[in-house]
Amino acid sequence: MTRTIEEIFRARTDGYASEKWSSYLTLYNDAFAPMRDRPVNVLEIGVQNGGSLEVWASSFPKARKIVGVDVNPKCVDLKYSDPRISIVVGDAAHPDIKAAIAAKCAEFDIIIDDGSHHSRDVIRAFAHYFPLLSDGGLYVVEDMHASYWKTFEGGLYYPYSSLAFFKRLTDLINAEHWESELSGLEAAQQFGAQFHCSFDGVPLENIHSITFTNSVCIISKRQSSFNALGVRVGSGADDGITKIDLSAETRPIKEPDEWSTLARAEGAVVEAFASLPRLKGEIERLQAKIDSLQRQSSAFSAEIERLKQRLTALHDSTSWRITKPLRYLASLVYRLRS
Ligand SMILES: C[S@@+](CC[C@H](N)C(=O)[O-])C[C@H]1O[C@@H](n2cnc3c(N)ncnc32)[C@H](O)[C@@H]1O
Repeated sequence: MTRTIEEIFRARTDGYASEKWSSYLTLYNDAFAPMRDRPVNVLEIGVQNGGSLEVWASSFPKARKIVGVDVNPKCVDLKYSDPRISIVVGDAAHPDIKAAIAAKCAEFDIIIDDGSHHSRDVIRAFAHYFPLLSDGGLYVVEDMHASYWKTFEGGLYYPYSSLAFFKRLTDLINAEHWESELSGLEAAQQFGAQFHCSFDGVPLENIHSITFTNSVCIISKRQSSFNALGVRVGSGADDGITKIDLSAETRPIKEPDEWSTLARAEGAVVEAFASLPRLKGEIERLQAKIDSLQRQSSAFSAEIERLKQRLTALHDSTSWRITKPLRYLASLVYRLRS
């Protein structure tokens, strides 16, 4: 009988260490059940001591690739006898690191973000790695409790926490019903402006479901045709209580609405806020230049003053040297005449 992920996790007494909250183990057992016996590819952001990669290797015996990424340079020392496991060392949000991961495996069936848990990193990682998730794949974000903490760029109802981001994505699942001309990309991009990442090229229309449990968010990906409401289907014949008209139009009217206008304005404010540090840096650079020019100008004024004084002194001594012989000559001429 196949052991549960929890049994596999708890039974390990050697190998590299890992720690997970107990509720995650039961959650993963349920969520990953259909994939346990498949040739899956797994990516975990945040490896630490390396043990969780061994847990995934045991939990998915037919897994093809299990890739871990960690920013801690010490992780290069992690060595695995299982050839399916490999590690990339670096910041998961860096494009070069994404390229290194994609070079190892073009598509993952499970992606687990157990990295820094800072809202910025969580949202950037999603923008980077959701495109690498396979159709039917699961994107898991661990330790979302950190999104309620200020030190992790979060807070209850803080509009740019990672949890607020995934709540916003739940609206995208229902984007076809929006009576608004706001696009899903535009709605997501407000977070992009805040965290300097782009959702251009992120297949937001492939978000099939978003499940929140205590501290974990799981986003499933399906082809966009699976994410549409579809057509209304009838069954039976007697519609004596309420007449059924399967051809009735129910599509929303796409038009400007006050809330999307507000959301756009909010986006503009966020963009302005996001550019504040850059503007502050620019002002500081200009102020430093003004200070340096002022110092140069004072030095020039002092030099001009010094030269003026020298000129006056020179003038005085020169005129003395010239007038003295002239006066002598004049007295000679006078004496000769008389
Ligand atoms: C909670 S630990 C991971 C634990 C591991 N997944 C386990 O289950 O045993 C978080 C790890 O994320 C790594 N990390 C933090 N920021 C990161 C980033 N931007 N990119 C990659 N790894 C990061 C840290 O170095 C740390 O080792």
